[in-house]
Amino acid sequence: MANNNQSVHGIWRNRWIFILAATGSAVGLGNIWKFPYITGEHGGGAFVLMYLACIALVGVPIMVAEVAMGRRGRQSPINTMSSLISEAKAGPAWKAIGWMGALAGFLILSFYSVIAGWALSYVLKMATGTFVGADQDLAGGQFGDMLADPSGLMLWHTVFMVLTAGVIMRGVNKGIESAIQILMPLLFVLLIVLIGYAAKNGDFSKAVHFMFDADFSKLTAESVLVALGHAFFTLSLGMGAIMAYGAYMPRQASIGTTVFAIAGLDTLVALLAGLAIFPIVFANGLEPSAGPGLLFVSLPIAFGNMAGGQFFGALFFILVSFAAWSSAISLIEPATAWAIERFKTTRTKATIAIASIIWVLGIGTVLSFNDWSEFHLLPGKTIFDSLDFITANIMLPLGGLLIALFVGFGMKYHHVYNEMQVKNAVFFNIWYVLLRFVTPIAIGIVFISGLLPECSLMDESLLNAETGECSNPTYMQPRVIGGVILAIAYIAIVVKSLKKPARGLSS
Ligand code: PHE
Repeated sequence: MANNNQSVHGIWRNRWIFILAATGSAVGLGNIWKFPYITGEHGGGAFVLMYLACIALVGVPIMVAEVAMGRRGRQSPINTMSSLISEAKAGPAWKAIGWMGALAGFLILSFYSVIAGWALSYVLKMATGTFVGADQDLAGGQFGDMLADPSGLMLWHTVFMVLTAGVIMRGVNKGIESAIQILMPLLFVLLIVLIGYAAKNGDFSKAVHFMFDADFSKLTAESVLVALGHAFFTLSLGMGAIMAYGAYMPRQASIGTTVFAIAGLDTLVALLAGLAIFPIVFANGLEPSAGPGLLFVSLPIAFGNMAGGQFFGALFFILVSFAAWSSAISLIEPATAWAIERFKTTRTKATIAIASIIWVLGIGTVLSFNDWSEFHLLPGKTIFDSLDFITANIMLPLGGLLIALFVGFGMKYHHVYNEMQVKNAVFFNIWYVLLRFVTPIAIGIVFISGLLPECSLMDESLLNAETGECSNPTYMQPRVIGGVILAIAYIAIVVKSLKKPARGLSS
């Protein structure tokens, strides 16, 4: 009996730590900075609805799969993949999940750190009263001046990278765990306070209509791709961060309820951030589609005009920086773990090496906003825009697609079933069907429509050079060809897995 109590206590504590760490990873700049501005860029309600659908139908099933993989492998993502692959006697190509994930974390952190640096610099600006009585001109001017100064951006990017490397070097200790316990709820409270201010002083009803009235005519194929990509980004999925944290999860804990809690909290924070920002945007005649500066221009106006705004503003940006910090830790960890294994080196050396490379890569993002703003990596996209697009909209969903296929078809059914500690077979079956059939097909369709052109590549005369539209959209070779290739690959994986159980059961 005593043993039972002990183990129950132990389980609760560990599960709580897992929820904290995973929520710390999930809640970050993605919720507070990125979600509002991409919602603004993609027209509001219909985009929000797509994002919510992607969270529920794609994000949650994949998060469950990632946690289960981590818990079964009990190691860093790349090693976890190796042991799961040999357990399932699957092909080595699945290792791509671990590798691509580490690379994605690397690339994401290179720009994430620069944006987190903006938040750090705003702590100082807020505290010193830069925005007292601010209007949109002052707030916009301050933001523009900050972007125009590469050395300032470099300084704050450096500070943030040093902070992140410092934690990774020492390992995630108790201090940070307890800090998350206090600061996360505080961020939540402050967002509610901001919404209160926005409801009183902003155009709240316009904001609510903008965020929740779905006008599907505003939705393009690219918007759907961005919504899917953001579901992955905001839940930290598709790159191994959640897999790495899943390794510490006690065997008996229910993965399903835990994941629901994390995804629910993460979504709530994003919606709250939107409700805090958009009323101020509309009341001050700002553009919802203003882009990455949305948070940094709208909230200073609110803080600059509220009682105690100097204090609350500084506190808010401290909390945003902290949320970014706890996400950054999970972005760098898979690559660091890999470097330690690959080069048989110490954690300190691996961290310094990886952080330095990410720091150098970050220079590309710093210069995207000033000296190199005309330099395009992808057509029409600066280095920052390109990195954001490639990682969030391609690498993470692709990683998620592979994870769904691996758990759904690569791993043996009874291993998956055991790992899930199934108490309710109905929930398990819903999840398994979503993971095997709904999630991969949905990602495939979004990829094909969002990434491939509508028009024939062979016949450019069909393409309207100005609007980029296809004059004869029935003529859709690229999408048809892409669809056929993906369908064949998918069917091959399904058929191959059908042969497996016989072998698995006889052994
Ligand atoms: N989820 C984090 C955010 O919303 C970003 C992140 C992406 C962290 C991928 C880890 C992995 O800010």
